[in-house]
Amino acid sequence: MKIVFLGAPGSGKGTQAQRLMAEHSMVQVSTGDLLREAVAAGSELGLLARQAMDAGELVSDEIVLGMLRDRLQRPDIESGFILDGFPRNLAQAELLGGVLAELGKDLDAVILLDVDLDILLKRLTGRRTCSLTGKLLNIYFSPQSELDACTEAGGELIQRADDNEATIGNRLDVYRQQTEPLIEYYGRAGLLHKVDGQGDMDAVYGRLVAALGLV
Ligand code: AP5
Ligand code: MG
Repeated sequence: MKIVFLGAPGSGKGTQAQRLMAEHSMVQVSTGDLLREAVAAGSELGLLARQAMDAGELVSDEIVLGMLRDRLQRPDIESGFILDGFPRNLAQAELLGGVLAELGKDLDAVILLDVDLDILLKRLTGRRTCSLTGKLLNIYFSPQSELDACTEAGGELIQRADDNEATIGNRLDVYRQQTEPLIEYYGRAGLLHKVDGQGDMDAVYGRLVAALGLV
């Protein structure tokens, strides 16, 4: 399947994409992860992206589209993909339509993970990533055994640079102003499925696979 995940920062796009990827041989294409890799590598593109990311603003459409186009040309996406964090504004949605047409592909579904603001804040301030496995964890919501498994294996629980309160506030504003219009855009295209993103991770996953017709 070829899917887009829409949803506010902290709504669970990455968490659910990791599980879908593990259980349904789809590839997660996260523009946020690709940008963070470019920043960590210190590439020219990373330097350009970093300022916008630290401020919680969107990186330019041109940079992100270039990265996405390259990623969608790798052979592993033939088994299906989940676009996590792209598109994020109407211009990117139009550009995505063009890239998919060039590749002879159509989207099967757009999933909106719906979560209330107060829960988003707790998820974002509590998020940690295990340095060994890349697994997304949370100091408030993950079982202590999962957090301990990372540190006991010698890993560190890393906090993302943009998960501080000032940047989180701006990321949420940018989502409301620039990304939320995509809900109507994909609704009109008949592709949108709204999934309740609250409750525990297994319950959300159950609703997600049901919405995608994978059960
Ligand atoms: P990006 O990396 O895409 O960040 P985001 O959209 O802000 O979303 P997050 O990754 O913060 O949240 P998520 O929905 O993946 O939640 P997660 O699963 O981790 O983008 C970062 C930046 O890159 C942007 O600000 C922008 O600058 C730039 N960028 C990226 N794409 C771009 C684009 N297309 N154009 C321009 N710029 C772009 O979950 C969050 C936490 O909650 C975790 O700790 C998790 O363990 C926990 N959790 C998840 N589900 C549950 C649950 N059901 N119950 C309890 N806890 C849960
Ligand atoms: Mg994410």
